[in-house]
Amino acid sequence: MPQLARRVGRAKPSVIMQVAEKAKRLKAEGRDIISFSIGVPNFLPGEHVYAAAREALAKDSGQYGSNRGTDALLDAFIAHMEALGLSGYGRANCSTGIGAKHVIYNLAEALLDEGDTIVFPTPYWTSYMDIAEIVNAKVDLLACPASQDYKVTPAQLDTALAKKPKVFLFNNPSNPTGMVYTRDEIVALADVLVKYPDTWIITDDIYNRMLFDGLEYANFMQVHPQLRERTIFIDSLSKTYGMPGWRVGFMAGPESVAKAITTLNSNHITNLPEIVTAAAIAALTGPQDVPTEKCAEFQAKRDQVMAVMNAIPGVVCPRPQGAFYVFPDISCAFGKTHGGVKIGNDVDFCNVLLDAKGVACVPGSAFGEPNALRISYTCPTPQLVPGLTRIQEFFAELV
Ligand SMILES: Cc1ncc(COP(=O)(O)O)c(C=O)c1O
Repeated sequence: MPQLARRVGRAKPSVIMQVAEKAKRLKAEGRDIISFSIGVPNFLPGEHVYAAAREALAKDSGQYGSNRGTDALLDAFIAHMEALGLSGYGRANCSTGIGAKHVIYNLAEALLDEGDTIVFPTPYWTSYMDIAEIVNAKVDLLACPASQDYKVTPAQLDTALAKKPKVFLFNNPSNPTGMVYTRDEIVALADVLVKYPDTWIITDDIYNRMLFDGLEYANFMQVHPQLRERTIFIDSLSKTYGMPGWRVGFMAGPESVAKAITTLNSNHITNLPEIVTAAAIAALTGPQDVPTEKCAEFQAKRDQVMAVMNAIPGVVCPRPQGAFYVFPDISCAFGKTHGGVKIGNDVDFCNVLLDAKGVACVPGSAFGEPNALRISYTCPTPQLVPGLTRIQEFFAELV
């Protein structure tokens, strides 16, 4: 029997999807399940997006398209970046992919040879680790526990970059913590980054429109424009516009990198579909009221989740200021029992919570932080308080 390639042995199915699947199965069995597990927005894009897709369908050419993305799509993305304070990018600096995940996968292929080192902070978005493992990169993790608000410090970054890794991967606002770096924090990190010209920087900023408390989005290139020559900015329509299933992701960076991503596209996906492209342009250039309204809604939900987390003795929960995640440190529960079932770690905690209370959360170990769990609060609003109440009861019942 022939063998599968070794890289497939390194690829693991997503833990987040496994929790979501278990929750779905219990629901199908008739259990009353509230899911805080999967990080998808609970809204659909505006009507103008569907109108653009329908119009494109009516005029469909049925042909292959650009490996990079159409000029109109790239121009819409460039205008979107300018609104974020990132000006001066041209079409040759940009490329697209089937979601940001695909763009990041392509970047791993484009920037990392086998055995090269990629550095990123923990907690991290699970796919960073999975993708690094598939391309057989060495991973250097920067531990950022709750006690430092899950944020990497300039000193940690300095120590890591002194070892000359090939890539530093950064995510702001963060999945899974919801934490957002302030402008001062970005300045301090950028001051370190400029010292190490041998390292590529990937900044995955797909939640850049979901910032709370009046916080402004900041990134390294605004602080030190010379970082542009080795920084790749990542964006996506998935979360901001409620379009995760449409699969549109972007990158902007040096021309050589955009060209490499485009070449990789030419060898697998060829192009984004015409109808998806039309919808994406409409989302980026049309009315922005959906993302703006949703951001306000998420901020209010964040407050509700935090009120409950702060009221549970022993739980440590840095206050997120973006995205739609809260990442409490629940290690105070380890060693206790619920209904006679022992909770030894985060995975036990999530399993017992799901079985006992019907609430699905993702264990922190999926994100490299086994003291925590991730609550994604994009559930329908009427489910939020009952779900939180069940978590609070669960803690109260621990012995
Ligand atoms: C930090 C981060 N980057 C990238 C992605 C991938 O997004 P997309 O749907 O565009 O592939 C996600 C999705 O959860 C994410 O949380």
